[in-house]
Amino acid sequence: MDLTVVQNLSLSYISSFALRCAVDLDISGHIQAYGRPMPLNELARSIPIPPQKESMLGRLMTLLVHQGVFGQSEDGYLLTPASELLLTDGSNLGAYVRLFTQANSIKNWDRLSEVLTDTGNCTLFEKMHDGKKAWEILKDIPEYGNKFNEAMASQSNSIMRGLVARCSNIFDGLNSLVDVGGGTGTAVKIIVEAFPGLRCTLFDLPHVVEKASKGDSFDVVGGDMFEMIPPADALFLKKVLHDWGDEDCVRILKKCKEALKSSKNGGKVIVIDIVIDFENKDTKAIETSLLYDISMMSIHGSKERTKQEWHDIILGAGYSGYKIYPVQLGVNSVIELYP
Ligand SMILES: C[S@@+](CC[C@H](N)C(=O)[O-])C[C@H]1O[C@@H](n2cnc3c(N)ncnc32)[C@H](O)[C@@H]1O
Repeated sequence: MDLTVVQNLSLSYISSFALRCAVDLDISGHIQAYGRPMPLNELARSIPIPPQKESMLGRLMTLLVHQGVFGQSEDGYLLTPASELLLTDGSNLGAYVRLFTQANSIKNWDRLSEVLTDTGNCTLFEKMHDGKKAWEILKDIPEYGNKFNEAMASQSNSIMRGLVARCSNIFDGLNSLVDVGGGTGTAVKIIVEAFPGLRCTLFDLPHVVEKASKGDSFDVVGGDMFEMIPPADALFLKKVLHDWGDEDCVRILKKCKEALKSSKNGGKVIVIDIVIDFENKDTKAIETSLLYDISMMSIHGSKERTKQEWHDIILGAGYSGYKIYPVQLGVNSVIELYP
């Protein structure tokens, strides 16, 4: 058993690249287009894979079926809820898979022990990029910035569909909302589509909102959330606070509080982020949260938070209370903060 654990973990990067291969070959798209369980030979012909390599494809599919990415019946391969997320005319989470499996993301992970033992303050990401912070690199190298924004948009699409379907009451009674660090506007578009009466603003760094598609349905403001956040009834921060350490989060949340001052009913902040819960029966969810935590530590020097850690920064920023909704959007929770 112990040997299996070590063997499995040593090889588990292969899972990431098997998934990446499924994305590159658009296996989800081929199975969807076939419209019924797809036999291996049909999948191979459709991609196309040379006949002599069909058995290699079969072995890749065996792994991905075992991992629940695809299903299988007697007649052939099927989509599962996981592989449906990879469909390019759906959530298109392939962009997210590509971001985390691109050469630049995986480079230098073998230096993690060096980051832990040296006396410097550089994150692994900063070590890889001559001391530059991730936000600088994303700004300075448009190719990286575009890939990042595309991956965030695909993840956002899938989280937001779940939020609007399962937690729409959080938008009740609101007249205005600002999506703080809202990227190129995927979430804001889904919110205005679902709640046409709600006046929404997309707010992010100027070079990011430049790339957002403009329209009449929402306003777009470029700026720095550490300086000023546009006022509204609700401030929406999805996958933003996990990019920052505790002190920075308190600064951001204090700026949010200032932006809520003009709200007639007091307003609220809506946070979508991971709450690490070791009591969760779903051990895969705990593991995914912890992988995210190491990822945040290594990219931004930031973290995913437990309930207690959220409690500390929320009250530390002067909020009177908060509520964590019993809803899971992937591994993300919904937290409402009251000023
Ligand atoms: C992890 S992404 C999340 C994007 C989006 N909320 C989503 O869920 O897809 C964090 C976002 O914060 C933005 N950001 C970083 N620093 C910022 C700042 N000082 N002011 C405003 N936005 C900032 C980034 O540009 C990026 O779009």
